[in-house]
Amino acid sequence: MTTLAEALCAGIESLAPATDSARADAQLLLAHAVRREREWLIAHGDAPLSAEQRESFEKLCRRRSSGEPVAYILGRAGFYGREFIVDRNVLIPRPESEHLVEEAIAFLEAGMTALDVGVGCGAIACTIAAESGAVVFGTDLSAAAIARAEQNARRLGLAALCCFYEGDLTAPVRERRFHAIVANLPYVPTADLPAQPDPVGFEPRAAVDGGPDGLALYRRLLPQIPALLERNALILLEAAPPTIEELARTVRATLPGFAVSIGRDYAGLPRYVRAASQGELPAPEN
Ligand SMILES: C[S@@+](CC[C@H](N)C(=O)[O-])C[C@H]1O[C@@H](n2cnc3c(N)ncnc32)[C@H](O)[C@@H]1O
Repeated sequence: MTTLAEALCAGIESLAPATDSARADAQLLLAHAVRREREWLIAHGDAPLSAEQRESFEKLCRRRSSGEPVAYILGRAGFYGREFIVDRNVLIPRPESEHLVEEAIAFLEAGMTALDVGVGCGAIACTIAAESGAVVFGTDLSAAAIARAEQNARRLGLAALCCFYEGDLTAPVRERRFHAIVANLPYVPTADLPAQPDPVGFEPRAAVDGGPDGLALYRRLLPQIPALLERNALILLEAAPPTIEELARTVRATLPGFAVSIGRDYAGLPRYVRAASQGELPAPEN
């Protein structure tokens, strides 16, 4: 008979060569295999593991050892205090996006509308809706991502505040106007895309590949923005730290009259461009 504590030790040992978070990962995977919370596991180290549970745990450890992110193995990821269902069709939401989300929440209030371009699993859109009470629209080129975002909005009781459409950039919402537009579009330069076993190598290429310099999608998005804005609107665009200055320059050139600045993530790295319209909006491009 194998106890939970013994299985955990074996799991940590098997994961150690592949990850710096072997203990935490092994606990999460074992809790998943025995369908219990991680806290329960820690308090019940003497409890026996069935042969089936042991086999399932070993299989999960093998997936993790191959580099697959824990979020894909468990089918869920945390973001801003909520849990989101994820799968390999969507990017795993990152804490790097949380400061951008905080700015959107501080700006928006109930009765306002926001747009999240490239909504993925819905983490950013659902969080903004839940925390601000604003109605949040989202678009994504991936039908699988839209299905996941809708599932997450329903699970979180946010279906009335969230409305997601499959389509290219802002095409599905061209008739609408927004107080805020946020985007975390694919922004890794193609040549820098890592392969497995890097965790990013497990994510959909369409969710990470930002073209030659990482800004290809933002260059297409920016000219579409003026026509979609309410007066005194806020735009927040996340990108890779080395590309932020160039994104800010592109935003200034495309949106003259906007106050443009750069926001940082938890690590203090430049992570997003903020553009605030100052009353008068430039004429939209056709
Ligand atoms: C970096 S992921 C971000 C997902 C989500 N916003 C998040 O932060 O977790 C980028 C998303 O943009 C979507 N996407 C890529 N190209 C797009 C396009 N042309 N129009 C709309 N969405 C697009 C991808 O399918 C992916 O879901």
